[in-house]
Amino acid sequence: MGNLTENRPVIALDFPGMTEVKTFLSKFDATESLYVKVGMELFYAAGPDVVRYIKSLGHDVFLDLKLHDIPHTVQSAMKVIRHLGVDLTNVHAAGGVEMMSAALEGLAGETQLIAVTQLTSTSEQQMHDFQNIQTSLAASVSHYAQKTKEAGLAGVVCSAQEVALIKAATSSDFICLTPGIRPAGAAVGDQKRVVTPAQARQIGSDLIVVGRPITQAPNPVAAYQQIKAEWTA
Ligand code: C5P
Repeated sequence: MGNLTENRPVIALDFPGMTEVKTFLSKFDATESLYVKVGMELFYAAGPDVVRYIKSLGHDVFLDLKLHDIPHTVQSAMKVIRHLGVDLTNVHAAGGVEMMSAALEGLAGETQLIAVTQLTSTSEQQMHDFQNIQTSLAASVSHYAQKTKEAGLAGVVCSAQEVALIKAATSSDFICLTPGIRPAGAAVGDQKRVVTPAQARQIGSDLIVVGRPITQAPNPVAAYQQIKAEWTA
């Protein structure tokens, strides 16, 4: 099982299907054990087979489906995810402590679980107007992180900007997994606030998720090794 404090950056396999996944993974040496993220696009396109395939190569899988439903349904889905051999998966903290506890039970300690607090695409204004939560965004993120810890989950997905806040609201060993990572000079794309792998380490991120700077690089293996070196330096 992948560790929650990792020396390997988690590679976001944001590909449309199995063919692209196979082409991408075949570039790496067979002895290189990777930690990859399978998100909604790939999972809904390629199904559980893509997870089985990646696991058969000996890699670790973070299944990023952000479940949010009634506790019983989430627990049943988590049993399926556990049987697929997934290493790490996630839910929306907004589903509640009962839902998060049910998810944990479904995973039976075989798959690790983290939660999403407020999506980083949600602005404070949207949270006020749409969710009708009349606090600061930081207070809402802290609140959800505390509830996530209370439910017994290992940590949260968050922006690097939120790591200090979340650790202060929970504990230093509460896991913060952060996307939005760009090595110096890399294209930012649609990400708004990015940090470098070295900055993420300094800020206290436990795990980083990196997609396009690796998957779209002319030499993905070299890009991965460079980001890994910067993350572990
Ligand atoms: O290509 P890039 O490095 O931007 O990919 C980041 C990955 O992390 C994508 O799969 C994206 O969906 C995910 N993610 C994110 N921001 C969040 C949560 C997840 O970028 N707040």
